Amino acid sequence: MNVMMSAPTHIPVLPKETIEALAVQPGGRYIDCTLGAGGHAAAILDRSSPGGQLLGIDADPEAITVARARLEAYSSSMLLINENFADLEAICIKYNFLPVHGILFDLGLSSLQLNSNGRGFSFQHDAPLDMRLSPSQEITAADIVNTSSEDELAWLIKTFGEERHSRKIAHYIVQQRPLKTTLQLAQTIKQAIGSRRGRIHPATKTFQALRIAVNQELEHLESALKQAINLLGLGGRLVVISYHSLDDRIVKRFTHQEASGEKACLRLINKKVITPSLAEVLFNPHSRSAKLRAAERTTDWMSNPPWVNRDSPYMEG
Ligand SMILES: C[S@@+](CC[C@H](N)C(=O)[O-])C[C@H]1O[C@@H](n2cnc3c(N)ncnc32)[C@H](O)[C@@H]1O
Repeated sequence: MNVMMSAPTHIPVLPKETIEALAVQPGGRYIDCTLGAGGHAAAILDRSSPGGQLLGIDADPEAITVARARLEAYSSSMLLINENFADLEAICIKYNFLPVHGILFDLGLSSLQLNSNGRGFSFQHDAPLDMRLSPSQEITAADIVNTSSEDELAWLIKTFGEERHSRKIAHYIVQQRPLKTTLQLAQTIKQAIGSRRGRIHPATKTFQALRIAVNQELEHLESALKQAINLLGLGGRLVVISYHSLDDRIVKRFTHQEASGEKACLRLINKKVITPSLAEVLFNPHSRSAKLRAAERTTDWMSNPPWVNRDSPYMEG
């Protein structure tokens, strides 16, 4: 059964390349750390049957509901957990799901979240400035926008949005706040820097910055990558798809570092990053900025099991 292209809501990016990079095999055990609408998960379950198992994680409870309905046919082969992948190691130990043959991160947001009217991720819909992946998180984008100092806002927009007009935008935000909705914020940014600059909407980078800050995306990614390699068995694959340069830089640095030197435990599968074909971008414009990196665990898992505290002063070398 090929369920890969039947997603009504979110089209999985680089589907064929992802399954190849994960080297999915029948009977294998896989973790999808970013379950979303379950598109990649369906392909993994399909390719790993008979006998395959999938642990699917998403911080967004709505994603879990959608994916559970979509993947109903595979219910006996999967476990879906509403948690943050920052807790990856603890989740795997709790559910005794290790070692694994492959771990996937398809970072960012799904079309479900971007197109949702009430989540505040997009400046295409008017909604409260929320941007939390999970309702259990305390801090919203509105909290950051309305309580940070002008300097803090400028730093955040520059660092997480790579926006060169960060100072001007921060100044206008402080002048016009309180800002409660996405359209109020987008309008304020337009007033600060003009309406169209090149191909992207003027609010794109500021919205990215706020989303990264609200969800601590960079910290969680760095932490989860370190945990992920300790869950892979010998020959297990780590595959990461990222959509902006801050995430991709973290993935590139991490995989290159773990693949070099005396203590190397990874081998890079693709020396050059994999990007979507023109045909895929035309079919699924959301894929246009995707970059896929993959690596394979080259050392035995049992030499470094995850329940051993590697930072302990009693550990040798
Ligand atoms: C691009 S979508 C994944 C789409 C999925 N691969 C598919 O084919 O349907 C990314 C998903 O990762 C989730 N996510 C992002 N950061 C997360 C984190 N730190 N922990 C758990 N889930 C996260 C988002 O809620 C979103 O549902």
